Amino acid sequence: MVTLAYMPIEHVPVLAAEVIRDADPQAGETVVDCTFGGGGHARLLAERLGPEGTLICIDRDPAAHERFEQVAHDAPCEMRFVQSDFVAALTELAADGVRPDVVLFDLGVSSMQIDAWERGFSYSFDAPLDMRMDPESEPSAETIVNEWPESRISETLRSFGDEKHARSIAREIVARRPLETTSDLVEAVRAGVPPKVRFGRGNPAKRTFQAIRIAVNGELDALDAALPSAWDLLAPGGRLAAISFHSLEDRRVKRFLVDRARGCICPPEFPVCQCGLEPEAKLITRGGVAPSAGEIADNPRSSSAHLRVARKLDRSES
Ligand SMILES: C[S@@+](CC[C@H](N)C(=O)[O-])C[C@H]1O[C@@H](n2cnc3c(N)ncnc32)[C@H](O)[C@@H]1O
Repeated sequence: MVTLAYMPIEHVPVLAAEVIRDADPQAGETVVDCTFGGGGHARLLAERLGPEGTLICIDRDPAAHERFEQVAHDAPCEMRFVQSDFVAALTELAADGVRPDVVLFDLGVSSMQIDAWERGFSYSFDAPLDMRMDPESEPSAETIVNEWPESRISETLRSFGDEKHARSIAREIVARRPLETTSDLVEAVRAGVPPKVRFGRGNPAKRTFQAIRIAVNGELDALDAALPSAWDLLAPGGRLAAISFHSLEDRRVKRFLVDRARGCICPPEFPVCQCGLEPEAKLITRGGVAPSAGEIADNPRSSSAHLRVARKLDRSES
């Protein structure tokens, strides 16, 4: 077991009641939690599954594995952990013939990861530039800010952080090399944005940190690869549930599920369907589900969350 320098802090699960309501796990079913984190959702799922059910938990972070040992200790269902990227883990489960009834993604970073200041996910603490969910993976944030060309950093900040001042921030980062700590990066951002932003509301480094974290962990590529694998893995009648925290993720989840629910892709002027495609999914959450005002007040980190759930149709239903 891996021992970490910090005490694991429990992750408050986001949209937890809505996940249980809409993914609707039943006693005796098999569920794959692709993003175990602090085990918040996993504990609720385990209670639903009961002694005949199986909960397979995946996370690429060894800290999540440590937390799993605590959660699984006297769990009400069978639980196993796969410490891996969820793309590889889903391939492994397919090879083992696992056909889950529910697959859950709760994307992004956990509170445990943000609060572990020494891992460098937060702009609020001074820490080494790391941001890796899997500490063995490459690159780290330090590699990106010190070794990537300015144009690639600028493009990363623009496309993964929607950062308006991407070019001037990237220029500052390169001019200040080597950057060693999160404070060095925050200072580079502050110097790269106009005074109105530097002294405005909120931390001007927020978008830069999000963008670099997404690049470090290959988050969007992983999501693009995992959604079709998870869908193929699901048993007929199974439910895919995904919680995203920004539009880059939500757009991908929405497009994926809506495409599967649509079926026919013929142009509207065709009098008769030529493509022959049948719907494979029924959307359970049509426009997605957002947290209530009460949940946001209790857990401000939930404010940007969005849940989408779809059911995989049996062939006879389509
Ligand atoms: C938002 S947290 C999940 C929190 C969890 N649902 C809970 O209630 O405690 C996301 C977790 O997913 C993990 N993760 C993100 N991307 C991953 C990937 N591609 N493969 C495996 N784990 C990943 C992160 O390490 C993090 O622990």
